Amino acid sequence: MSTQPAAIATASARGLKIPRHMGVIMDGNGRWAKARGLRRSDGHRAGVEAVRRTVQLATEYGIECLTLFSFSAENWRRPADEVKFIFTLLRRFIASDLDRLHRENVRIRIIGVRDTLEDGLKTIIEEVEDRTRNNTGLDLIIAFNYGGKVEIANAARAIARKVAQGELDPEAVDENLVAHYLDTEGLPDPDLILRTSGEMRLSNFLLWQSAYAELVFVDENWPDFDEAVFVKALRSYSERDRRFGGINT
Ligand code: FPP
Repeated sequence: MSTQPAAIATASARGLKIPRHMGVIMDGNGRWAKARGLRRSDGHRAGVEAVRRTVQLATEYGIECLTLFSFSAENWRRPADEVKFIFTLLRRFIASDLDRLHRENVRIRIIGVRDTLEDGLKTIIEEVEDRTRNNTGLDLIIAFNYGGKVEIANAARAIARKVAQGELDPEAVDENLVAHYLDTEGLPDPDLILRTSGEMRLSNFLLWQSAYAELVFVDENWPDFDEAVFVKALRSYSERDRRFGGINT
């Protein structure tokens, strides 16, 4: 008898391909709230519910890695209150969901610039990562205070330092070595990057890693993300002809 979760069996019966790594640009919380006469903070709160649904869906459909863009390096340009609220939501999410995620064997990693975060949040992040490090289920990567250009610049600096110290031969600097210095070290590159709310850009998300990712844009705002939208995105991904620069013979 098959031990596959029902969702995986259904997906394969529908001819859906499942990405190993899916990255999500969760956009449209503000517009979702505005359309309902609510505050932007209500939109972000509803966005956390969509995060919970998506983690569940990723597990059920057999996705190995899920990276969620939660706070970009550019999001500091928002009003201070809103920035503070998004930080509070991350803290609350960890406090309320960590036990369950750990029980469900989810391994959590937070990527992005950590040095400039407040000490309390840094400690929480380290605890979350330490506690779930040996889990073998879904890899949940939360991109927080993350920017792709900064990530690449930091990698370049670390490599330059090694070369300057005579510990690294410049000739040894290749794609694999650069990838080793990125926050996503050890993870497969994303196969699919999904953005909600109809916007069509990467906004500095996983710039290096997305070289061959399929990009899927859906019109729904992030708080409306559910299984129907998820399956629609998977269908679009499944129809793509991935050649990685080669040709089909
Ligand atoms: C984009 O909508 C959303 C964000 C910038 C924040 C996303 C944060 C969360 C969903 C909550 C925190 C995450 C976790 C993992 C607990 P927007 O505000 O840019 O929407 P708009 O473009 O319609 O204004």
